Order: sequence, then structure tokens, then C-alpha cells
Amino acid sequence: MKVRPSRRNFIRQLGGSSLLLAAGSLQSLAEDETRRQVIPYAKRISANDKIRVASIGMGIMGHADADSALKVPGVELVAACDLYKGRLDRVKEKYGDNVITTQDYRELLLRKDIDAVIIATSDNWHARIAIDAMNSGKAVYCEKPVVQKISDGLPVIAAQQKTGKPMQVGSQRVSSIVWRQAKELYKTGAIGQLNCVEASFDRQDALGAWEYTMPTDGSPETVGWDRYIEGMKKMPWDPKKFFWWRNYRDFGTGVAGDLFVHLLSGIHLVTGSFGPKTIFASGQLCYWKDGRDVPDVMTAIMQYPESKEHPAFQVMLRVNFVSGLGDKGITRFIGSEGAMDMLDSGFNLTHSIMSKAPGIGGWDAIYSYPQAMQDELMKQYDLKYSAEDQKRPDKPGVSYVAPADYDEHVEHFANFFDGVRNNAPLVEGPEFAFRAAAPTLACNDSYFQQKIINWDPVNMKVV
Ligand SMILES: NC(=O)c1ccc[n+]([C@@H]2O[C@H](COP(=O)([O-])OP(=O)(O)OC[C@H]3O[C@@H](n4cnc5c(N)ncnc54)[C@H](O)[C@@H]3O)[C@@H](O)[C@H]2O)c1
Repeated sequence: MKVRPSRRNFIRQLGGSSLLLAAGSLQSLAEDETRRQVIPYAKRISANDKIRVASIGMGIMGHADADSALKVPGVELVAACDLYKGRLDRVKEKYGDNVITTQDYRELLLRKDIDAVIIATSDNWHARIAIDAMNSGKAVYCEKPVVQKISDGLPVIAAQQKTGKPMQVGSQRVSSIVWRQAKELYKTGAIGQLNCVEASFDRQDALGAWEYTMPTDGSPETVGWDRYIEGMKKMPWDPKKFFWWRNYRDFGTGVAGDLFVHLLSGIHLVTGSFGPKTIFASGQLCYWKDGRDVPDVMTAIMQYPESKEHPAFQVMLRVNFVSGLGDKGITRFIGSEGAMDMLDSGFNLTHSIMSKAPGIGGWDAIYSYPQAMQDELMKQYDLKYSAEDQKRPDKPGVSYVAPADYDEHVEHFANFFDGVRNNAPLVEGPEFAFRAAAPTLACNDSYFQQKIINWDPVNMKVV
């Protein structure tokens, strides 16, 4: 590659959460804060037995996934599959000539020497390959959103339950110690009673808007186009639909399925929620008019019902690919006594607590009353409320940061391989993943059909 992706782009492609610690953002994280805490983290100890892995889909994320998987001790990449030949050549160049390569993932599923597969194809293939792989006895690490259509969700869950094969879905922030620390604080009531979550991704360049660099030789000779569109209506070769697949509803899931899903995964992790009951989305195609059929600016509003885990709260999600705010991703949990701002590699906990007394004076009606009445009201107020009751309790904020060498993506794979080796519980199984993905796919339905979608988050069904 002539131009390597910048670190910031790389982090953004991973959903805005960190693979690497962003020193700059740490600094700003700690500015203005009275306290800063590095979240404790114990490195996992390696096991001895090898896990042999095949990767299906060796584009941008296929490489990021394979590289992170290989950082977990005892993991070997034995095979890779992709529909574009240039990417198979690159696999041999980068991982060695002995890695088996093919354009047909089914060949890999037949091999007895493969324990687990990583699925990092375009979204339209996730569910199908995941089901085939589990039915062939393979453990599965599948990229988000794991389903391209809501109707794919329950069959994936059923296949996992039937086969009992470990399945982890790749919204890696679910493994992050940063998000887990936030969850612990949330549970202790650190922000009071949650009532609202605002979360967004802002981007402002062509790569961020999914116009990735195309290869020089993309053609039906180098790409398995017929396999790519298998099961769909026939359509002629179109390099944009292959290399910029996210921009087309036939292959991707729009900004909602692609990016809101990271936001909901984090929100569900922290709150323990199963999901919203109503979903409404609005959007527009504002700037990237390159033939895409999905919006580049989208906002969604979701209402979460009260559950055993949390009170009723609202979620507002936004993606803006033409954002004068620059490149940013944030999730903000707002409660009655504080807020948690989740950033790239840490978060800020701040507090604002109401005084016991309701307040008097300032921007108040009292000054519009006759002076004698004002004096009397002030006197009564001071008699009723002590000086202490009249003050807002002062509670300093804290900035939590991950240790410098912490990597949530490797952590997510370590948990997966722990499941493969030792049957350890996986943090992002298909049910958790579908509960995060389905409401985001419902955002597309809401936007295209211009209606509110009602969702049953417990039984995972559109109502
Ligand atoms: N977890 C994250 O933070 C994160 C970040 C980026 C992408 N992703 C996910 O990873 C997946 C891949 O995204 P990307 O950016 O790497 O896309 P990409 O276009 O760079 O790569 C996708 C590759 O899949 C291959 N492919 C498609 N169908 C196939 C099939 N049937 N068999 C074999 N190969 C097939 C294509 O040839 C292509 O090379 C997406 O689902 C995306 O949502 C996740």
C-alpha cells in the first residue's frame, strides 16, 4: 500500500474505540479534572495448546482481526479466504506462503485442521457463513453486525445453541476494561438515576465516508463476483458495490448497522439492557453523492423501557459523515447526579448534584414582586433551609484511563480463545450481538419506511 492508514483512521475503522492508546486524547481527558485513575488490568496467561484459525474476508478488518488474534499466545493462522485475488496474494506476502488461500470458504470448513474461523466479510455474508461454520464444527468469531437483516438473527442464535460452538461477535468495546469500569460505576449509582444516553460518530473525509482506495486490477477476472451476489437478483459487475459495499443496502447495513451497532453494544454493556421498545430514525444524503443508496447523516431516537437492570431511559444516536466537528466518537451517559463521557481510551465521570433547597433569586420570578414580599420570601426561605441545604453538594470528577499498552481488540480475541480452549463464557455471544444489531437495522426500516418501529427486546422480535 502506498499510503498507510493513519492511526486515527485506524481507530475510527474500529468503531471509534481504541486499539491503541491515544496519548493526545488522554491528555485532554485529564485536563480540567481533579483526579485521574489508571484502570488496573492483569494480563492473561497463555495456554500451551495451539488454536488453528482460518480467516474469511481479508480486507481492512480481516487484517486487523488476524493481527489481533495472532497476538494471543497459541494462535496460528493456517488459512484465509477472500473473493478478490489481490487480497489472497497479500495474505501470502504478509503471513507466509504456507497459509492456505482460497476464494471458497466452504473448502476451509471441510478441513479438520481448522478449529475456528474469523468472519470479516461484507455484512451480507456474516450470518450465512457463521451458520455454515458452526454446523461444520468450527468456533466462530464474526464481525459486527452479524446480521444484515433482522430475520437472520434468530437462526444464528439457534445454530449456536444447537451446535454449542463458541461464538463471539466483534464489537470489541464489549471487552474493554474502560467500558467495564464504567459499568461498575454505573451499578454503584455514580451518576444517580440514568435518564438519557447520547452517542455519536463524526467524520469528515472520504475514507471515513467509506470511499476506500480501490485496487488497480479489480475486475470479474480477479473478483468472485458471482459468489458475492449469490442468492440475490443478478446484477452486473460494479467495483463500487464490491469495494465500497457499505454504501449499498444490498451488501451493507448503512451508518446504522455499521456504526450505531458499536454505540448500542457499549450502551447495553454498561446498562445491562436488552434493548429499546421503540425506534425512530431520520436521515439525509447530504454530501457523499457517489451513487450510494444510504444516508450520510442519520439520527435515531430510541426509548428503553424500565427493566430489572435499569430505569426507563432515552437514547439518541447520530452519525455525521460531513461533520465540521472533525473526527470524534463519544457516548455520554446522563443521570440525575452526573454523567460519564466515554472517549477513545478512557472516560470522564463528572457530577452535578441538586441542592436540597429548590433555590431562590437569580433567574427567578422573585424580583418581579414588591420589595416587601421579596424580603418576606427570602426570610421564610432561610428559615426553612439551612445554609448546607442551600448549597449544591460538591463531588469532584474522575478521569479514568486505560494503561498505555492496553488493547481491547486483543482482549476480545483472548476471551474468544479462552472460550474455545476452556469453555469460558464469551462476553459477546450471538444474543447480545443481535440485541444490539436489530434495533440499528430497525433504524434503516424506520428511515426508509418513515415510521416508528416497535421492538420486543426480550424475545427479539419486531412487534
Ligand atoms: N469491529 C470493528 O471495529 C470493525 C471495523 C471495521 C469493519 N468491521 C466489520 O468487518 C467487516 C469487513 O469490513 P472491511 O472494512 O474489512 O471490508 P472490506 O471490504 O475491506 O473487506 C471485506 C472482504 O470480504 C470479502 N468477502 C465478501 N464476501 C465474501 C465471501 N462470501 N467469501 C469470502 N470473502 C468475502 C471481500 O472480498 C472483501 O475483501 C464488516 O462486516 C464490518 O462491519 C468491524
